[in-house]
Amino acid sequence: MKRFLNAIMLISVLALASCSTEPKSDIDRKVDELLSKMTLHEKVGQMNQLSGGAWLVDQAAKGEVGSILNCVDPAEINAVQKAAVEESRLGIPILVSRDVIHGFRTIFPIPLGQAATFDPAIVEKGARIAAVEATASGVRWTFSPMLDIARDPRWGRVAEGSGEDPYLDALMGVAMVKGYQGDDLSDPTSLAACIKHFVGYGAAEGGRDYNTTMISERSLRNTYFPAFKATAEAGAATLMTSFNEIDGIPSTGNKWLLKDILRDEWGWDGMVVTDWNSAGEMIAHGFSRDLKHTAEQAINAGVDMDMMSYGFIQYVEELVKEGKVSEKEIDRAVRNILKLKFELGLFENPYVDETASAKIDYAPEHLEAAKQCAIESAVLIKNDGVLPLSGAKTILVTGPLADAPYEQMGTWAFDGQKEHTVTPLAALRQEYDVIWEPGLDYSRDKDMSDFAKVRRAASRADAAVVFVGEEAILSGEAHSLSNLNLQGAQSELIAEVAKAGKPVVAVVIAGRPLTIERDLANCDAMLYSFHPGTMGGPALADLIKGKAVPSGKLPMTFLRDAGQAPFYYNHNNSGRPCNGTETLLNDIPIAAGQTSLGCTSYYLDTGYGPLLPFGYGLSYTTFEYGKPSVEKAELGRDDVLKVSFELKNTGKYEGTEVAQLYVQDKVGSVVRPVRELKRFERVTLAPGESRTVTFELPVSELAFWNIDMEYVVEPGDFRLWVAGDSASGTPVDFIVK
Ligand code: NOJ
Repeated sequence: MKRFLNAIMLISVLALASCSTEPKSDIDRKVDELLSKMTLHEKVGQMNQLSGGAWLVDQAAKGEVGSILNCVDPAEINAVQKAAVEESRLGIPILVSRDVIHGFRTIFPIPLGQAATFDPAIVEKGARIAAVEATASGVRWTFSPMLDIARDPRWGRVAEGSGEDPYLDALMGVAMVKGYQGDDLSDPTSLAACIKHFVGYGAAEGGRDYNTTMISERSLRNTYFPAFKATAEAGAATLMTSFNEIDGIPSTGNKWLLKDILRDEWGWDGMVVTDWNSAGEMIAHGFSRDLKHTAEQAINAGVDMDMMSYGFIQYVEELVKEGKVSEKEIDRAVRNILKLKFELGLFENPYVDETASAKIDYAPEHLEAAKQCAIESAVLIKNDGVLPLSGAKTILVTGPLADAPYEQMGTWAFDGQKEHTVTPLAALRQEYDVIWEPGLDYSRDKDMSDFAKVRRAASRADAAVVFVGEEAILSGEAHSLSNLNLQGAQSELIAEVAKAGKPVVAVVIAGRPLTIERDLANCDAMLYSFHPGTMGGPALADLIKGKAVPSGKLPMTFLRDAGQAPFYYNHNNSGRPCNGTETLLNDIPIAAGQTSLGCTSYYLDTGYGPLLPFGYGLSYTTFEYGKPSVEKAELGRDDVLKVSFELKNTGKYEGTEVAQLYVQDKVGSVVRPVRELKRFERVTLAPGESRTVTFELPVSELAFWNIDMEYVVEPGDFRLWVAGDSASGTPVDFIVK
């Protein structure tokens, strides 16, 4: 009987929905009209994305290509567009795409560096500038932001995302989507965003790119989905599937992900594209028999557009005839594609002004914003009172990253031109008398024959600044590493310079958190700059000189040794947490008897903790946190938690502190993380100034996917910390009733 009543209710809901009088939008009407005129062949053409430019003119004229990628020459773009608009039967414009990941011409810090700013406003500004420059060249769709949670720095693509924290990831992702798309997709400077890679791609086992993942549904929902859901809700126009499989199902053929979650649960109505040949790769996964099968599985799972597998264009018509793919699925896909083209205003304005980019690229305000972002992204890791080098006159500049204009742009900087990059060497020459001795030619260089010369030069200087790190190609896609020490003889270079007895500042310019413990011992100060982009030189020079004060915080945990990976601050409680009294390798007596009693979760050699926690970063000044107080220690589920604390600048410089609020749900129906970042704020204070800072957190934001796979706030005991990193702070307890 109950089942019968449910069925009746369902029928009436469906009836109501179909009788809905909600008017169709203009765009929906235009899409329907166009769709009704299209042949199946033309529909499949729209679902086909190909890499290239002018040589695709014939296919465009036949209506066999819906989108192109990797062409940024305005004249070529116009040529392909002309073929599509003026020669194809229905004149449907091409959607031009490109990986604009951290800037188009003006290169901003890599996304991981942008995350280190903890400043969504500067990230949004960077994305807007990228959009203005890219659209001036005719690009209207970027494959960014990458939202993959990255807990393993061996994975080269950590460079492209916001690191290990779901909350930070979501905020940075939303900032990028807003920046790229602006207020209205139809604005000619609007660049459609693509949230990627859906999903779990960053959890590749062992940090090996493209490797398999092991993620439970709960962990997907609690950790990997939130940034996608937040950016989908913020209006991200498109989404890209990932290369990996989830519980045995490659994302590109995963109906649960692409239909049940994305469409039915989240109600998102954008367009889904595969990653490069990720449909075709389902054959190597052993999930599809052949290319035809990949097309069938991908479309039925919910994919709209195929990037470079050629499977759709070759087989979809056959698949429809055979009844393996319905025309309804095809119409769904084409509708999503056409809708985006209408929204972008491509039908009205298909062409790009071929003279525009020359006036827009590298505009002074773009360079200024890129410099500001690079300043905010640098993290001061150590300072034994040597930085800033405000009193020094003559400095030694050395190291393979000091004058490497191409390398400092980092990974995925296809369109940034190294001629426009300002290196640290060039910028420091404006501030100091510089003695320049490279020491090593590139980051993997092992030739130490110039080291004695470098050391002698250091003795002649007031201080030495050693620029080490990674060449751009060592991080990014397909560039995983199992050893995260500085490559080549870079550590030896720092040690050699230290022998001169002058203050040594190490500046690390890299695409990922490297294991720099041994290098910290050989320098007096270390600034960690993720590849900082076009204006990295002036930004770092300002920081070294003291014209700017570091404020960046680590967006990923820094390891003592790559063997600790994956290691992230917000891990679940263990049954045997470390208590600081553990026996380390050298404390074990010889011929010790076998025992595991009293042992906890740690390594005999590297101990329990990482080198540096998530959220860590020093300043030239110091900050003191007062004990936080909560307005109410007992809250209902509809209440807002209000936490206030005094933050005081106790040092000599004006500085900005990223104050962070962490919360722990002490007991849950499933094991909960030890801490989770819930809020942060950049607070700028003059020397001696203090301010009361208040974080407001709706209790509803303490919800998680519980034992019944429901998203709920479970009443009970909670703990919070307010601190400058994820490992500090005085705990304060509160209760949710
Ligand atoms: C493969 C990468 O995984 C993806 O992130 C990128 O957008 C596409 N190639 C297109 O270049």
